[in-house]
Amino acid sequence: MSFNYGLIGNPVSHSKSPVIHNMFASYIGIDMTYDLFCVEENELGDFLHKGYEAKVKGYNVTVPHKSSVMKYLIGISDEAKAVGAVNTLKLSPNGYEGINTDTKGFLRCLRENGISVLDRECVVIGAGGAARAVIYSIIKAGAKRVFVVNRTKAHAEILCNDMNEVFSRNVCSYASAEEIVDISPGFFCAQTSSLGLKGEDAMITDETFYSKMSEAVDIVPKKTTDFIERCKASGKECSNGFDMLVYQAVESFEYWHDVHVPNEAVLTVRSLLNNE
Ligand code: ATR
Repeated sequence: MSFNYGLIGNPVSHSKSPVIHNMFASYIGIDMTYDLFCVEENELGDFLHKGYEAKVKGYNVTVPHKSSVMKYLIGISDEAKAVGAVNTLKLSPNGYEGINTDTKGFLRCLRENGISVLDRECVVIGAGGAARAVIYSIIKAGAKRVFVVNRTKAHAEILCNDMNEVFSRNVCSYASAEEIVDISPGFFCAQTSSLGLKGEDAMITDETFYSKMSEAVDIVPKKTTDFIERCKASGKECSNGFDMLVYQAVESFEYWHDVHVPNEAVLTVRSLLNNE
């Protein structure tokens, strides 16, 4: 029996999720389909209701519906509530339940790259939805302090206040691109702004910043970005956003099917994306 899954977003045509999920399914021997659904905001409730009636087993949810989808769900994980976004739905007898695998996926991405943030200072560039999942993850993983660098200070401040409230400690604060250059050496940095996606220069261009950094992750799903190039020029490791893309998919796949995705399948998909 074949089970149906899919991605809801707008737009979705560029998505690499079908390739990733189909690859995992064939590796493990699960008979499933994974389709792309471009859905308007005002059609979301209706779309999910029809999916429920057709017994569609699960959905991934992407931009711009990760927050708006929450009101149509019958259950939401604490993590997804704290982040304010859901990216994975699973069919249950009375409707869909939602979790956020961007958080777990990001932590797995760090683990697989040999990065620990425990008791460390971290810098997060960007303050959008992706930054929210990243910041939640690294505080959960024991980061000592998180500095958020963002074009719009007010967006960063709202995010920091929310996270400080979730974790009941003053762990997260805004820093300007100029101020952050004075940070002590040895920090971890996550680049979450969409600048790299548009092929634009990184938000921080001062070489001192990169020379003080220990290692970094850019979550923009591209082989390379200006940020990654600047890290490399300073001799620092920086993985690209294909890692996070793959690991959030692994977490979704395991949640849906209650299986373990073998490392070999993960590595195959990673190299496929990097060699496209
Ligand atoms: P996502 O949900 O994928 O994180 P988003 O919510 O649109 O996307 O957030 C995009 C991030 O990239 C934000 O931090 C945004 O900065 P602002 O808060 O100032 O909007 C940042 N960003 C996007 N375009 C930018 C640009 N041209 N210069 C600097 N920052 C930019």
